[in-house]
Amino acid sequence: MALNSKIAAALLVFLSLVTAAQSPSGLKDAYKNSFLIGTALNRAHIYGEDARGVALIKQNFNAISPENALKWESIHPQLHRYDFEAADRYVKFGVANHMFIVGHTLVWHNQTPAWVFQDGKGKPLSRDKLLRRMRDHVHKVVGRYKGRIDGWDVVNEAFEEDGTLRQSKWMKIIGEDYITKAFQYAHEGDPKAELYYNEYNLEKPAKRRGVIELIRKLKAQGVQVSAVGLQEHDGLDWPSLEEVDATISDLAELGVKVNITELDINVLPQATSGVTAEVTAKAEARPNLNPYADGLPDSVQQELAKRYAGLFGVFLKHRGVISRVSFWGLADGDSWLNNWPVRGRTNYPLLFDRQGKPKPAYDAVINVALGQATQP
Ligand code: GLA
Repeated sequence: MALNSKIAAALLVFLSLVTAAQSPSGLKDAYKNSFLIGTALNRAHIYGEDARGVALIKQNFNAISPENALKWESIHPQLHRYDFEAADRYVKFGVANHMFIVGHTLVWHNQTPAWVFQDGKGKPLSRDKLLRRMRDHVHKVVGRYKGRIDGWDVVNEAFEEDGTLRQSKWMKIIGEDYITKAFQYAHEGDPKAELYYNEYNLEKPAKRRGVIELIRKLKAQGVQVSAVGLQEHDGLDWPSLEEVDATISDLAELGVKVNITELDINVLPQATSGVTAEVTAKAEARPNLNPYADGLPDSVQQELAKRYAGLFGVFLKHRGVISRVSFWGLADGDSWLNNWPVRGRTNYPLLFDRQGKPKPAYDAVINVALGQATQP
């Protein structure tokens, strides 16, 4: 009898260990043998005002990106004024929690103040002066976090949809070598940091070709590029899993890593004429563009779960070249997609709902890691 109960007790311990091994305590644990799992921190996370969110972040993520805290307008609002308060806290949070810390972003056409491109009289700067300004900013910001920020989105969104370089002020004033220069300055700022080119819509063949050419050129010039970041601001139907798969394969052939950097899935009707992630795009509010203001129907909830499972199946397939999969935000209520491109909609793009509860999509993503979901 005594022996039987000892055996039974041992069996129970064994079973609970097996169950614990099979049910990971968070997303990062589920994917620990494949890639890092990241999220983007907003101000309330950085300042610890969203305690529930912070707890979820610590439990589920081992990589962080700053949603806005390190963009030029936040960190360097005026010529002679840097403001590192939020950025310092962001980095401190990552260091304290042993997370992979991403810097986002150094050179971009948005959220960069107008003064950056002008002289004291409001006239466009010369190429040399703008290069010097870029260099000073990049050296200062990258240098400040040397050895703590692990990887930088050096240039963000330099291409048009047709694969030509975007005619941004960087491009118009400096010319196309502004990209090379940005990478060189970042490398000087922290020679050990990973350096990324970050972009959306690379599933579009023309845009992908443009970026592939760029990375080839940079590598031929001896410029260090660690990875291409695929933002993956996706929809329920676009891009197809085949397109995502092909995009990752094509980029991996360049001999760089491919990171998923801003993943979210828009479940609302498309409000712009084409698929885009250009943050300045705007569209009028209309009731038919906001169909789930009172809650997400179960059918769409399931569709979202299936869509996430499909994408993670593709990411897992490419785990040899993918170092990190980062979501753009934590919970549905936090997402930029509630206010873009139409203000005041109710969107459901992430894995946690407005109360911070894991959604069916969360379980679906965990199940893919456990090999329990149908792989595409
Ligand atoms: C782009 C940028 C991000 C963010 C998102 C939308 O993808 O890279 O910094 O602004 O748009 O929030």
